[in-house]
Order: sequence, then structure tokens, then C-alpha cells
Amino acid sequence: AIDISSLKKQTGLNTLDYGFVNTGATKSAITYIDGDQGILRYRGYPIDQVASGCTYLEVAWLLIYGELPTDEELAGFDARIRRHTLLHEDLRRLFDALPHSAHPMSVLSSAVSALSTYYEDDMDVDDPEKVELQTVRLLAKLPVIAAYAHKKAIGQAFLYPDNKLSFVDNFLRLNFGTMAEPYEPNPVLSKALERLLILHEDHEQNASTSTVRLVGSTKANMFASISAGINALYGPLHGGANEAVLEMLQQIKDSGEPVSRFVERVKNKERGVKLMGFGHRVYKNYDPRAKLVKESAHEVLQSLGVQDDLLDIAMELEQIALEDEYFVSRKLYPNVDFYTGIIYRAMGFPPRMFTVLFAIGRLPGWIAQWRELNNDPLNKIGRPQQLYVGHPERDLPAR
Ligand code: ACO
Repeated sequence: AIDISSLKKQTGLNTLDYGFVNTGATKSAITYIDGDQGILRYRGYPIDQVASGCTYLEVAWLLIYGELPTDEELAGFDARIRRHTLLHEDLRRLFDALPHSAHPMSVLSSAVSALSTYYEDDMDVDDPEKVELQTVRLLAKLPVIAAYAHKKAIGQAFLYPDNKLSFVDNFLRLNFGTMAEPYEPNPVLSKALERLLILHEDHEQNASTSTVRLVGSTKANMFASISAGINALYGPLHGGANEAVLEMLQQIKDSGEPVSRFVERVKNKERGVKLMGFGHRVYKNYDPRAKLVKESAHEVLQSLGVQDDLLDIAMELEQIALEDEYFVSRKLYPNVDFYTGIIYRAMGFPPRMFTVLFAIGRLPGWIAQWRELNNDPLNKIGRPQQLYVGHPERDLPAR
């Protein structure tokens, strides 16, 4: 048995570890990654099995509650989520106060933060029923907020959710339906989006999840913690990479620069230019999610009858990189973000929505990690050390 009281004491050993490359901050039973072998499992189940055999909500349940749901549990969960999709009318008006030019990720984090103001009576983090409510409300409302961020950016009227539709079709309709015409779900796109969302659902202690945990360690509620996680995801070195990949591919296309020349500029670290969507802190092998996304990209484009030059450029970049000493010696492979943008674009999402889609995918993981932390008797407020390198004591100049 673990002696909790002794573990809660400081060990007296301090390490300086920029980027927490070697420092663990928690135990977790949610997600397993072996970065050298390219293995990812949710609660023990291999990612390829989960991505092809489950729905987004089924995987959300698995991550949050630890086991696959029974049919009855899943039906109840789905029904509770459908009941909570509406936003308070006043919250809908929050979008009026934000500019059309706002990045949808800023809109998303602002609205999630604002959401907590409507439910202040339900924010007790130590009351299991309130934690359930926070869980269901976030899962139900984040996709609606995300779709409104999109509608706001393109200047179209917001639709109310249609709770007869599945989680994914409801979301697609809120984005692409209009007041004037009924939305016709496209099963190919629905299936592809469901798969992408599942692939993003959890990824252990990445920057945004660690942010959710750090904020949660102060006993802040789930809305506050996840709003902070959304902001952490926004950066181009993390979730923002999917938008940056598409911009990079588009720039290569528009400039007409040969792909090999672009790769040379990356290798020469010319003005910090990187091959976006490549490399990962944990994977030193092919990211297993990237393999599945690449397959989906081909399937979706083929079934839509779309030929996308950007996919050709991406595949050429990957081919060159996989054979080039710079990338091979640094173990840099495509990560989950490398091919996702091609699919989102084919679905009709603008690049600025790509990281928002990542956030919807990652939400169940953030919730599961927040709840695991909140139930962990070892939880204590996160508070890293520093190595002070400033002035020694000195006196203010005489005045
Ligand atoms: N293009 C070119 N060179 C790269 C890349 C890249 N994408 N990624 C890493 N390198 C190089 C670094 O310059 C460094 O080279 P050096 O040893 O000559 O200095 C070496 O590879 C090691 O890279 P680090 O930056 O130390 O690796 P770290 O683990 O800190 O960073 C990260 C990982 C941030 C993902 C990095 O690979 C990167 O910036 N990739 C591009 C952005 C991206 O795709 N992010 C999404 C990550 S997945 C996700 O968050 C969902």
C-alpha cells in the first residue's frame, strides 16, 4: 500500500526540467502511450480498434468512467447530453459582443469561461452530482458554442440544435445548415468526423491536459479548468499546428516553390521555419493516429470526388522527410495534425476552425483527467519550483 502522507511531503530533491521532459506530475489510468513503438491505448484498448469500432460518446464514456458503456448506459448518457444542448439566450448574445474577425479559439475559451456564470449553484467540485452536471453540460454545449463561433465568423444566423440528430450530425448541421434550407447529413463526412474526434479524445499529459490539471489542482471548477486548456491548445506548437499545417501547404502551393527546396529551408532552420505537423515530444516513431488520419484523408477525398493538390504536397513532404537524415536522426514523423486539415477543408471548415475541432475531440479527455485528479487522494495544488537567476539583494538608489 502507498503511504500517502509520506508521498505528500516534499522530497527535498529539486530538479530543473524545462518543458517537463523528464518529470512526472501524476499517476493516471486513462491513456497509455509507448512513443518509441508508436502505441496508443485508451483504457487499454488499441487506438485503431477504438477508432473504427466506437462512437465519440462511447469513447467519452470509456475515458471518463473507465469501462465501455452498456447499451443502456450509452443510451442514457446520449439522452442526457441531447437534453443539455441549448445555450441560455443571454449567452447566445455574448457572441454579439465579439468581433467577426475574432479567432474561433478565443471565442470558444471566452464562451466556456462565461458558461460557468450561468451555473454557479452547480460548481461544487466535491459533489459528485454537480460534477456529473458539469460533465454533461460541457459535452453538450461545447459543439454548439463551436458552431456559433463558425457562424459568427461567416456572418450567418445561429441555428438551434436539432436533438433528433446524432451528436456528430447535429454539430455538422449547426455549422453548415442554414435557415433557408434543411441540412442533409452526408454519412461519409459524419463517419470521418466521428473518427477524427475519437482520435483526439485523449493523449495523456500533453500541454493542454496538464493545464487543465494544474488549474483543477486549485479546486477550480471544470469550466474554468477547461477554458484554460482551450487556451493552451490554441498555440501552434500544440493544437494550433493543424491550422499551421494547412497554411504551410497553401504557401508552398501558392509560391510554386519546389517541395525539396522548402525542406532544405526547414533543415537550415531558416528564420525558425519548421515542418508543421511533424515531430512530437513523445512519439519517436510514426504517430499511430497520423496513420489512421492519412487513410481517412484518402477515403474522404475519393468519396467526395475531390482532387486536392495540398494532399499531394503533404505526401511529397512526408516522403522526402522519411528518407532524409535530418528527420530520420531526430526521429521526426508526421503527427496527428499533419493530415487532419485536408479532411476538415474537404468538409467545408475554414482553417481557423481546425483547432476548435481538435478541442471538441479532446474535451472528454480533459474531463476524464480533471475527474481523475479531483478523485486522487494524492492531489495537491500544482506549484513548480524555479531556479532564481536574478540580482542578489540590493538597496534602492537614494532619492
Ligand atoms: N521541423 C523541423 N525540425 C524540427 C521539428 C519540425 N517540425 N520538430 C522538431 N525539430 C527539430 C528541432 O529543431 C530540434 O533540432 P536540434 O536538435 O537540431 O535543435 C530537434 O528536432 C528536437 O526538437 P525539439 O523542439 O527539442 O522537440 P520537442 O519535443 O521539444 O518539441 C514539438 C516537440 C513542439 C511537437 C516539435 O516537434 C514541433 O515544434 N513540431 C511542429 C509543431 C507541431 O506539429 N506541433 C503539434 C504537436 S502534436 C500536438 O500537439 C497535437
